Amino acid sequence: MREFSALSRAGGKTIGLVPTMGCLHRGHLSLVTRAHQEANSTVVSIFVNPVQFGVGEDFEKYPRTEAADLAACEAAGVDAVFLPTAAEMFPQDFSTFVNEEQCAKGLCGEFRPGHFRGVATVVHMLFNIVAPDVAVFGQKDAQQVAVLRKMVRDLFLPVKISVAPIAREADGLALSSRNRYLTSAERRDAPQLHAALLAGKSVARSGVAAPEVLAAVAAHLGCFPAFCPQYIVLADAVTMAPVETVGELGAGKHLLAVAAYLGATRLIDNEVF
Ligand code: PAF
Repeated sequence: MREFSALSRAGGKTIGLVPTMGCLHRGHLSLVTRAHQEANSTVVSIFVNPVQFGVGEDFEKYPRTEAADLAACEAAGVDAVFLPTAAEMFPQDFSTFVNEEQCAKGLCGEFRPGHFRGVATVVHMLFNIVAPDVAVFGQKDAQQVAVLRKMVRDLFLPVKISVAPIAREADGLALSSRNRYLTSAERRDAPQLHAALLAGKSVARSGVAAPEVLAAVAAHLGCFPAFCPQYIVLADAVTMAPVETVGELGAGKHLLAVAAYLGATRLIDNEVF
């Protein structure tokens, strides 16, 4: 991988990295399109990162679709796919982790202890191996983006973070590799997660107290008993600190984020305003 990057660079090319855990869908391919726009050579990494999964989470059953992923990368004009093994990345004696301590608090950080430590660590490793000029992530994982932006800033990493909008199904459901876990009845309810966020966003005006916005989201989700919400949060879109009162709208300062179980599947989604 390092040789590929060195050769690309020697040929005057910039490198765009799209880090993924595979099971590629249209959302990932939109990240590839963004990477093509921002760099001359696009690398996709596929690695189901064991250290970002907690005990009892879906590491074992996380879908692995390597052949289809490679075909999708080829069709999308990806220049190289980096597919390390877990033993190469995390040998038995691995003992160095990256811990971002501000943006990783709250939201998913509260319910998935160690998750962002695992993400920051593996992404830092991928940056060291691939040496990209730009790395592209999806807005769906808004807290992950905040953590990684902060890591890049705090540690002076020479990588630009580029963020692509959430790719959605026609009915509003945010694309996710985990959507394939949904039963057909759950799939019918799933778009209500986004509809609930839009209900919250519709009551958000400058000066409105956050609980009013959160109540609108909760009320909408409450109409669909199959959902078991884990959190509904209005946060500063950069720091992830809770927002108490809605401020200036339209500047992208507010992140309205939700995580909810639909049956056994944990879904997340967000709106920025
Ligand atoms: O967003 C993901 O798929 C993962 O968290 C990432 C960034 C590839 C790190 O394992």
